[in-house]
Amino acid sequence: MSKQWWRDAVVYEVYVRSFADSSGDGVGDLEGIRSHLPHLATLGVDAVWLTPFYPSPQADHGYDVADYRDVEPVFGTLAEFDRLLSEAHGLGLKVIVDIVPNHTSSAHPWFRQALADPSSSARSRYVFRDGKGPRGEEPPNNWHSVFGGSAWTRESPDGQWYLHMFDEGQPDLDWTNREVHEEFLSILRFWLDRGVDGFRIDVAHSLYRHPELADAPVGEIGGLFTDDVTETHIWDQDEVLEVYEEWRALLDTYPGDRMLVGEVFLFDVARIARYVGDTRLHQAFNFTVMKAEWGAKGLRAVVEQALAAFSPGTWVLSNHDLVRHVTRYGGGDLGRRRGLAVSALLYGLPGSPYLYQGEELGLDESDVPLDRREDPVFLRTNGEQPGRDGCRTPIPWTAEPPGFGFTTGDPWLPFGDDAQALAVAAQEDDPSSVLNTYRRLLAGRRALLAEGLPEQVELLDTDEDVLAYRRGSFLAVLNTAGEPVQVPVTAGAVLLEATADGAALEGELVTVPPAATVWLRAEA
Ligand code: BGC
Ligand code: MG
Repeated sequence: MSKQWWRDAVVYEVYVRSFADSSGDGVGDLEGIRSHLPHLATLGVDAVWLTPFYPSPQADHGYDVADYRDVEPVFGTLAEFDRLLSEAHGLGLKVIVDIVPNHTSSAHPWFRQALADPSSSARSRYVFRDGKGPRGEEPPNNWHSVFGGSAWTRESPDGQWYLHMFDEGQPDLDWTNREVHEEFLSILRFWLDRGVDGFRIDVAHSLYRHPELADAPVGEIGGLFTDDVTETHIWDQDEVLEVYEEWRALLDTYPGDRMLVGEVFLFDVARIARYVGDTRLHQAFNFTVMKAEWGAKGLRAVVEQALAAFSPGTWVLSNHDLVRHVTRYGGGDLGRRRGLAVSALLYGLPGSPYLYQGEELGLDESDVPLDRREDPVFLRTNGEQPGRDGCRTPIPWTAEPPGFGFTTGDPWLPFGDDAQALAVAAQEDDPSSVLNTYRRLLAGRRALLAEGLPEQVELLDTDEDVLAYRRGSFLAVLNTAGEPVQVPVTAGAVLLEATADGAALEGELVTVPPAATVWLRAEA
């Protein structure tokens, strides 16, 4: 049986609001994506993941869905989605859409009905509870919203409270109610019938909570932005796996290897691995790689652990929620150099790399002025948390201000300072640009896979600043030191690729430049 496409697929995340604006309103849209699909085909990715483009008041920029079976007019129409899907397929690109099952928008008809009529069946599709205290004036428990503040909002001065692990405009659904299950199976069928190739499941480790909604141990908060995702009350309840077993069974009735990738925002790899399997999700994001600091030692630890836990896994360095990895690795040219080195190391491993838009340009995190920030994380914490706007600034296509080819209008977020220097058009003809290096790496990876690489990876014993592995005759060597290193290789080795100048192969020694990765073919 041919290997399922998703096992080694390179997936490109499009954050719809900031990719390309065709309508001139300063907000990215589906037509903008469609007209830039050739960029993705030339880059050499296999699939595109579209963040939510459904009707939404945009309280959390689309992750607050008011209608799961339509397109937000700001982004376009269902007909435009169908055209985008068809053209992507025509270019050999698979299309993954986002599904948001943990919560709806407060503008969703269900929630409007739940507020309007507490005796309605819609009411029990959400988590409404009486408050504590003589007049119910205290929240039902001590849980915090991931975005800061309480996870509860009172519906009226003397009413009940409703749970929202995120913004108050994102009321949590009650997955103990079978009607919620049926609705989401119907939503999946709606998009599967339209021909989508898969779904990225938002906050996939949620849906179920502690059965009595008991107080969490003091100090535990929602774990999207903290490392201590240790809550045993709020996330990662066993029942959620049964939901994905039901979803997997549905997808398996469709042709074309439709897939599910879960945003399982946990850091215990063994816990994440439970979500993946022949009867559950096809893939789960492994955020431990994303959180690893620059350095061979830390990267080796997460790669070794990931290879042991997933076969195959996913490799993610950036997305629309976290500081761009170029900045995490030191920013500027150094950050770009290091980002390329880590990407090249990961691309030779079994599994599915996920790229975040702008990563192929080497964009840094942008410093969005405080008065331009829109992220509910920033707003709800009154600026205590910087928020995520900095990784969501628009993609610069040309080096021409003020719209940089993204828009003819006023962009909803300002461009990063590096827009002119790092625009696609500014990198197109430079063989050593980040863009062209990504293109070479992805083309090289595709060629290696076409030849057939063993799944088995052997991590090699090397100096502490070096991370190297072998897959059959393929050898990848990452040097995280500040100076070149020389690594012994077998006679007859051939240098295939390097992410920086200065790589050399003399006899049985390869020189790896600082903060760089080389690929070789070297018989074992
Ligand atoms: C998404 C975030 C979103 C949150 C609530 C996360 O998984 O990636 O962008 O704010 O879920 O939907
Ligand atoms: Mg637009």
